[in-house]
Amino acid sequence: MLPAAELHVHLEGTLEPELLVALAARNGVALPTTDVEQWRARYVFGDLQAFLDIYYANLAVLRTPQDFADLATAYLDRARAAGLLRVEAFFDPQVHLDNGVGLDVVFEGFGAAFDAARARGLSCDLILCFLRDRGADAAEEVLRAAMPFREQFIGVGLDSAEVGHPPAPFARVFAAAAAEGLHRVAHAGEEGGPEYVRDALDLLGVERIDHGIRAMEDPELVRRLVDEQVPLTVCPLSNVALRAVPELAAHPLPAMLDAGLRFTVNSDDPAYFGGYVEANIAAVRSLGLDETALRTLARNSIDAAFVPHEQKSAWRSVLDASELPST
Ligand code: ADE
Ligand code: ZN
Repeated sequence: MLPAAELHVHLEGTLEPELLVALAARNGVALPTTDVEQWRARYVFGDLQAFLDIYYANLAVLRTPQDFADLATAYLDRARAAGLLRVEAFFDPQVHLDNGVGLDVVFEGFGAAFDAARARGLSCDLILCFLRDRGADAAEEVLRAAMPFREQFIGVGLDSAEVGHPPAPFARVFAAAAAEGLHRVAHAGEEGGPEYVRDALDLLGVERIDHGIRAMEDPELVRRLVDEQVPLTVCPLSNVALRAVPELAAHPLPAMLDAGLRFTVNSDDPAYFGGYVEANIAAVRSLGLDETALRTLARNSIDAAFVPHEQKSAWRSVLDASELPST
């Protein structure tokens, strides 16, 4: 694939069945099966909530700093091998706190893995996500609790079950995050309608929208997103796996490109949805996008990254000098 940035990946969504089984054994956690193929066979989802139920349950195997480091290292090694220049990765601290695992454990493990990846030349940072279905008070509490670790993450996001959990109640916690100099993003328009996207922009002040595909249902919103060049982090294989679209061929991505939307291609939860960012790019190619389009998407990912302008210029030069691989 062309050199690019991955801006929408949940570290907990990179937990491959092999590591899940190994961590369960290491920590004495009972699993319904230790057969990795049986795990993969279970990963068939009717909607976002069906996925989240399994995804959250599986996180009970993460107990120690080493577990979190192993999880992140496996993903970051793959990212480097795929030729990614930059990773901005989500994590869900509230799930770990519920499991009796402290923020110190989570940050120690992820921090060690991210430091090691940086030392090997990969630019990477963490974005702390609030679980929208736990409510705004819980989000404010976790942001406060994370402040001693402020140097270890660059932004906040909003994820989990979207429908019935609109952005508005989170306005205060996003304002508090902004006051701390944190970047702000939010999942919106994945299962929820265009109004979730509009409210994330207007009420939360987000700099990027995660997913955003349902914005296409509202022409006026599309015009605004184009005018303001708001980046959308699209995850095609996730949208198919969670039935946000009926099939890949029906994905709005080609129409989004034609509309002039600035979007990037990402993996979301690659251990569950059939592949990492390169598989998502391959899916996009299969929709008939040509080299010019693929270069635009790679460039969008660089432009939308939370890094200084000089870094973006340097990466654009790397991209311009790169040939498109044949597959
Ligand atoms: N958490 C992990 N993956 C998610 C997704 N696709 N949507 C919302 N929350 C998530
Ligand atoms: Zn996501």
